[in-house]
Amino acid sequence: MKGLVLSGGKGTRLRPITYTSAKQLVPVANKPVLFYGIEAIVAAGITEIGIVVGDTHAEIEAAVGDGSALGAKVTYIRQDAPRGLAHAVMVARDFLAEDSFVMYLGDNLIAGGIASLVEEFQADDSNAMILLAEVDNPQQFGVAELDGDGVVKRLIEKPPVPPSNLALVGVYMFDANIHQAVNRIQPSARGELEITDAIQDLIDHGLVVHPHRVRGWWKDTGKLEDMLEANHIVLEQLRVKRRGKVGENSRIEGRVELGEGVELVDTLIRGPVVIGAGTRLEHAFVGPYTSIGENCRLSHCEIENSIVLANSTIREVPGRIDGSLLGRNVKIERSAEKPKAYRFMLGDNSEVGIS
Ligand code: TTP
Repeated sequence: MKGLVLSGGKGTRLRPITYTSAKQLVPVANKPVLFYGIEAIVAAGITEIGIVVGDTHAEIEAAVGDGSALGAKVTYIRQDAPRGLAHAVMVARDFLAEDSFVMYLGDNLIAGGIASLVEEFQADDSNAMILLAEVDNPQQFGVAELDGDGVVKRLIEKPPVPPSNLALVGVYMFDANIHQAVNRIQPSARGELEITDAIQDLIDHGLVVHPHRVRGWWKDTGKLEDMLEANHIVLEQLRVKRRGKVGENSRIEGRVELGEGVELVDTLIRGPVVIGAGTRLEHAFVGPYTSIGENCRLSHCEIENSIVLANSTIREVPGRIDGSLLGRNVKIERSAEKPKAYRFMLGDNSEVGIS
């Protein structure tokens, strides 16, 4: 089998971060989301992986390289525009050839990996396998309708009146029949070639689509809240590595991973927390479920349940920062300039909450 990881797309729901950076490279517990997916595929014994890339191809290629650091052999496949998940399968036709493959959305995380799912698909006679999870808001997902015997009857993309609460998780397995299906379907109302329509086409042609119910957690990290929740879940499983220096008057509680050269001065860190290499914290409090990237500077501030990307500065901020995602090179500082006021320079679609 081969792997196909989708890492193009627009990432509109994570703007402004995605104006300058691929959403699949936003770190969860200081590791790009995309790496979790690639590692899960490799752990399932699949090393030949195609990565579909769009406008952010250079950044993805710089981060993943030839894949050898993750145990994979990676081929990059350009998609001219985000024309849909089924379109991504189309552009990967030559790479996939006649092989079965697992398709993995590059912004998804799934507990326990996919090794047992790949085994189940290989042992089974089905032409496709879909993963289904119960959700509270099926209107926002591709949704499956099963008959009384648990056979997939129908799939619908973001239905206003969902026939069930079973959403499609962003991991799929296909045999080569999917190539005819993606060629037969038409773009949806939103102008995309939908993978749900292609799978429906398989069903309509009498092919077997096996549904697998996911019991553990999974996350599509396309939105801020989901990103923070994924960070929360991954940090919950953190194993402790400590390389930095816990300086005078500093304290660490719970599971905290400090990167090389981290310096703490008069700081309290309450885990689970990861702090990237070269970051310095002074007179700071870092609370649970926080990931701080490399070479950040935090002083006289408090932060929890947040993700801070590399090279950012937070200095003398009154009140606690919570539930936040800060991009690279962000600065939040108290300013001495008059008048005494909030001063912002925010990119398009930035969001600031002030209480
Ligand atoms: P989505 O999250 O459905 O789409 P998006 O990335 O455009 O995000 P938004 O809705 O916020 O604008 O995509 C799921 C994954 O598949 C994601 O990793 C991007 C990738 N993708 C492609 O590679 N090609 C495509 O044509 C599309 C639609 C998505």
